[in-house]
Amino acid sequence: MEPYNETPAGKYFTLTYGCQMNESDSERINGQLEEIGYQPASVMEDADIVILNTCSIRQNAEEKVYGKIGELKKLKQEKPHLLVGITGCMAQENKGRLIARMPVIDFVLGPYHIHDLKDVVSGEKKGRAPVVMTEMNPERVSDFSELKAARKSHVFAWVPIMQGCNKFCTYCIVPYVRGRQASRTVQDICGEVRRLAEEGYKEITLLGQNVNSYGLDFRNGTDFADLINSLSEIPGIERIRYMTSHPRDMTFRMVDAMAASPKVVRHMHLPVQHGSNEMLRKMNRGYTIERFFELLEYVREKMPDIAVTTDIITGFPGETENMHQETLSLLKKARFDSAYTFIYSPRTGTPAARMTDQVPEDIKKRRLQELMNTENSISLELNRAMEGHTFRVIAEGPTKNDPEHWFGRTSGNKMIIFPKDKKLEVGMTVSVHVDKAQTWILKGTLTE
Ligand code: 5AD
Ligand code: SF4
Repeated sequence: MEPYNETPAGKYFTLTYGCQMNESDSERINGQLEEIGYQPASVMEDADIVILNTCSIRQNAEEKVYGKIGELKKLKQEKPHLLVGITGCMAQENKGRLIARMPVIDFVLGPYHIHDLKDVVSGEKKGRAPVVMTEMNPERVSDFSELKAARKSHVFAWVPIMQGCNKFCTYCIVPYVRGRQASRTVQDICGEVRRLAEEGYKEITLLGQNVNSYGLDFRNGTDFADLINSLSEIPGIERIRYMTSHPRDMTFRMVDAMAASPKVVRHMHLPVQHGSNEMLRKMNRGYTIERFFELLEYVREKMPDIAVTTDIITGFPGETENMHQETLSLLKKARFDSAYTFIYSPRTGTPAARMTDQVPEDIKKRRLQELMNTENSISLELNRAMEGHTFRVIAEGPTKNDPEHWFGRTSGNKMIIFPKDKKLEVGMTVSVHVDKAQTWILKGTLTE
């Protein structure tokens, strides 16, 4: 699409915090800016507009953003025309309070207002009083595909399939800042993926807070299995990734649909959060450990080579030493390929933040360390079992530190680093022999 403004508007710099949904939103934010003539800046100092696309999931995510706003205050003193915008979850959570506290900010747009960005920075609102737009418009999920995305890659693409979440886990701020679940239609999603395939994209990642409840808001029987079946038919797409799964809403029918599709990857991110049934109940997760294992066994039976990863929260209110031991046992029994472990962070407005039996910080830290130690040795063991075997990866590009070493991911989402070959190009599907395993990455060599 041609920019509708012939004169260059200047340069933009977008910083993204938090999850893949934000990565994806940032691509649409950048797409909007490019449509009105902005060009990407390589460093923040060169930009005429800086956008912080923020995350509220834990306190430390918010603190990083406040630190950055401090830097922007200095930058704006040198460059008074600089526009500063806050988008994403902190925008939604704090609304106009952000500008009141930090006048360096020119506009605050919640996740439902990427559509308004062009008007805010180029229309009659530009340079006027600070703009705050945080009304939730779930019906806007249906015009998502109209928002041009400036995608980072020409091979791998994020595809949001829904917004929001209805689960209200008691620790989680997402339902408050991202609103109620709203799914895009199968037709809309397939249309976008078909266009991506025509442009040469090979791998898509379907994004939703809880992909297993996809489509339930239509109340017409559509579910994630239907979406997978339809997407699997689209020629050109080699791999379909998806995240995040929820043990409460995943059905055997969905697992069957994944297993039947040669394109759906053999990786599942399935957050269990805790190993104690009492904790799961207080977290409002809606399943027991027994049910979780029933599901996990079914998943592994249908897809024996699948890599399963998880999220764990430690130090949730009321967590006793015994309950912590239950999580350690869960890790040993489930043998996840990796586990993202988080210290519980109270979020204002959530039920858990009001619970009285909060766990002291030093205990949380010690428990986190024990969880990480246990999981790291399991991850390493599972990766070592890959040594001596050959895997198909799609080449993603050079590693950060060494242009002669490239990396790619297996279907199970394991990263393999290997010496580059003359003919190698981004997006090529190649076979790599794993020579050496580490906890987080594998090292290998091309076999063709
Ligand atoms: N404190 C710590 N971790 C949290 N998560 C979500 N909310 C919180 C919180 N308040 C974790 C969960 C979720 C992941 C994305 O972040 O484990 O799966
Ligand atoms: Fe948060 Fe639970 Fe929804 Fe995940 S399922 S976004 S943890 S409320």
